[in-house]
Amino acid sequence: MRIVLGVGGGIAAYKAALLLRLFTEGGHEVTVVPTEAALKFVGAPTWEALSGHPVQTDVWSNITDVPHVRIGQEADLVVVAPTTADLLAKAAHGLAGDLLTNVLLTARCPVVLAPAMHTEMWDHAATRANVATLRERGVTVIEPDSGRLTGADTGPGRLPEPEAIHEAALAALAGGADAPADLTGRRVLISTGGTREPLDPVRYLGNRSSGKQGLALAQTAAARGASVTLVAANLELPVPEGIEVVPVQTALELQEEVRSRSAAHDVVVMVAAVADFRPAEYTDSKIKKTHDPADPDAAPTIRLVRNPDILAGIVADRGSASSPVIVGFAAETGDATGSVLDLGRAKLARKGCDLLVVNEVGVDKTFGQDETSVHVLTRGSDAVVDLGPASKSQVSQGIWDVVVGSLAAH
Ligand code: C5P
Repeated sequence: MRIVLGVGGGIAAYKAALLLRLFTEGGHEVTVVPTEAALKFVGAPTWEALSGHPVQTDVWSNITDVPHVRIGQEADLVVVAPTTADLLAKAAHGLAGDLLTNVLLTARCPVVLAPAMHTEMWDHAATRANVATLRERGVTVIEPDSGRLTGADTGPGRLPEPEAIHEAALAALAGGADAPADLTGRRVLISTGGTREPLDPVRYLGNRSSGKQGLALAQTAAARGASVTLVAANLELPVPEGIEVVPVQTALELQEEVRSRSAAHDVVVMVAAVADFRPAEYTDSKIKKTHDPADPDAAPTIRLVRNPDILAGIVADRGSASSPVIVGFAAETGDATGSVLDLGRAKLARKGCDLLVVNEVGVDKTFGQDETSVHVLTRGSDAVVDLGPASKSQVSQGIWDVVVGSLAAH
């Protein structure tokens, strides 16, 4: 895909270099269009070396190539990171004084803006109005993170991490202007992230799930018209506006939130990595080391108890009703007892859900990665839908295609 990476004049411009790397490593062709001010923070050689293309900021170079029109017209996606308050204002009002603003006026592809500025500027009525105008026009304006800003101050206005912008950009690319509206009117409940089971006030048993796949499913479902609730277990990624978030920490909390909501939804997707076990006892104060010279290696034994299988529980709650459509996920490694698909089929039968999305896991596969490949199994059918390797957003679109088919059959 052809991606234009616009870079505004903010201190966070250095993060755009990492974002550029994520795009090029994903096989995309990236043209960087910095503003004049951006080059005061990160110079042209950095952008040229990382993108493999020359950069220009004004509309007066390479005139015969008509860059002020061509770059925008040919783009599959435009991402601007960081987007300053000034750039938001120019984009909202259609000003076109330099190359980047010309690109924004000529692009007809999805546009993703990642603002970064001081809290006062972000909160100002002028910026609020500009953001509202842009969103009304279909531009994705990512919410800035809260945290440490350039000086000693903190608050909303930080540029989200490159990985989060990358994921939002891929979702926009996958959803695009022509995303089918085939989930309009559907209520979708998705659990994502990984549960944490506390041992004491500072320690927990956790897992490596980043929540990216569930977030990509939420974004793509919303782009296809669904109203989406995301039960998010310890999710550290920003969630786009319009998606309802229910934060949870433990498996029992996740169970409570999912079970109480599932009957009111058309589709429930259990992506969350739920801990199968939790410590039998929680200690109110930090578990301490002992200092007994006679037994210097003394260590506590932690007894675990089983957590409920939430997926199997909502299948049981549904009983003989036809709604909701229930989708499970399974991270599998093949072993001596069977291939990944054999294990997936056995799990689908055991859990009783309608669809099971199986992904093969290894040390560097799936967890925290942006690319994935999965097999989608359907109860009562031998057919397997293979998706990927592709971005989690693209894979999500394929999963929704299968779910939409399943909704029609229910
Ligand atoms: O049994 P396994 O953990 O492989 O199953 C994975 C699927 O089951 C996922 O959809 C996960 O969200 C769900 N699950 C659950 N409750 C558990 C463990 C897993 O709902 N205690």
